[in-house]
Amino acid sequence: MKRVITYGTFDLLHYGHINLLKRAKALGDYLIVAVSSDEFNWNEKHKKTYFTYEQRKQLLEAIRYVDLVIPEENWQQKRSDMHEYCVDTFVMGDDWKGKFDFLKKEGVEVVYLPRTPEISTSQIKHDLYDANAVDGKSMTSHEEINTDPQ
Ligand code: CTP
Repeated sequence: MKRVITYGTFDLLHYGHINLLKRAKALGDYLIVAVSSDEFNWNEKHKKTYFTYEQRKQLLEAIRYVDLVIPEENWQQKRSDMHEYCVDTFVMGDDWKGKFDFLKKEGVEVVYLPRTPEISTSQIKHDLYDANAVDGKSMTSHEEINTDPQ
């Protein structure tokens, strides 16, 4: 069984993410997605996500291409993950081209897939912010919305 892994934040899941996951899965039989934890995003990537780690994990687990979701907690874990999860192929979008070639030394194939054009989480946030500014409404943060179905 060929095992594939990819890493990312996957906030406000969009069709660019789905295209990436679909193509990543097509490179093997079992797809692992390492999702950046909230602490890692904040401390290292200087990003505050809209959805929490648990929410992003839950969304990814519902996607048919994804077999396992694990947390990404630091930059160093990739090397050990390759062995711990018996990875054959490491996949990222080509915005990371060349950045993870060092993993080839761990015996894995490293693949950079072309990004889907004209969509990103940052772009969605930007567009929604602009739309709200035009409407004269203030943005409601996810934390202010009661998502408890009871
Ligand atoms: N990705 C992609 N095509 C897009 C957007 C993302 O292939 N249009 C890929 C990235 O290259 C990465 C994975 O999806 O391998 C997760 O990307 P992430 O950074 O979480 O998503 P972005 O939409 O790029 O988020 P941001 O705007 O915050 O950088």
